[in-house]
Amino acid sequence: IDVTLNLFEEIEKLKKEKNAVVLAHYYQEPDIQDIADYIGDSLGLSQQAAKTDADIIVFAGVHFMAETAKILSPNKKVLLPDLKAGCSLADSCPPHLFKKFKEQYPNHLVITYVNCTAELKALSDIVCTSSNAVQIVESLPKEQKIIFGPDKNLGAYVAKKTGRDLVLWNGACMVHEIFSREKITKLKSRYPDAKLLAHPECEDVILEMADYIGSTTGLLKYSTNSTAKEFIVATESGIMHQMQKDNPLKTFIPAPPNNNCACNDCPHMKRNTLEKLYLCMKNESPEIFVPMDIIERAVKPIERMLEISA
Ligand code: 13P
Ligand code: SF4
Repeated sequence: IDVTLNLFEEIEKLKKEKNAVVLAHYYQEPDIQDIADYIGDSLGLSQQAAKTDADIIVFAGVHFMAETAKILSPNKKVLLPDLKAGCSLADSCPPHLFKKFKEQYPNHLVITYVNCTAELKALSDIVCTSSNAVQIVESLPKEQKIIFGPDKNLGAYVAKKTGRDLVLWNGACMVHEIFSREKITKLKSRYPDAKLLAHPECEDVILEMADYIGSTTGLLKYSTNSTAKEFIVATESGIMHQMQKDNPLKTFIPAPPNNNCACNDCPHMKRNTLEKLYLCMKNESPEIFVPMDIIERAVKPIERMLEISA
């Protein structure tokens, strides 16, 4: 790649030339968020993917997100800057094992968190995201038996919030599982007025201490609307870029993990770079393909989610 290229300008040119839209998740690196046409949480991103009139969707996020965009817009070209940008949570639920698990619970409705493969969505009745999981469970009759997967932490949170008994798949996200309650408690004593913001993929011991629990969009809105000046953020660090941009006078502190790494980066989300974004738009590759039979089955539970959340 020519090092003298101004990647911001080149990407803007390619967007126009190819009628391409760049959708980015809040966990992407700051430069990618700044060049995106739309930044959002998983729900917002799927809503955008369903309604865009662009010819090409460039998904700056991870594989399952780009797959969801392809399922919702099968006639569009969907690109992902790095095909290896996977997800530990999606990996924690292999479809063939989930199918066997599901067979053990007949008469159960299957709700899957959007952080899973297209094949898993094809085995589901309704998809949800962290911003509508509670609403989706509550939209079902009380006596409805439910399997929830793949995230056990989000599942336990939803069960607690709704008072429903959910059968949980034992999956988790590598980034949200490692926050240290002990270190957060210490940090809170140094910043007694700081509010703890946590994503529901965190373990219950962290959620119990949180002042606010929500999706990335929810956490961002809360930080903007709150009168507090300091926030401890228990989710992937990328969201802090928008928090800081929207609230330049407030302080955002990453919640400390159990290990000695100070960053809370998702290695999958951070595989995408501005350079890879430019190259994938230029070469129209790597492209996401989902088999038509999977698309036909997976689109129904996603559309059901979009209808309930409209
Ligand atoms: P949301 O942005 O929907 O809260 O999702 C978080 C996440 O882990 C995506 O990988
Ligand atoms: Fe998957 Fe967790 Fe990374 Fe989100 S933050 S993409 S859930 S590994």
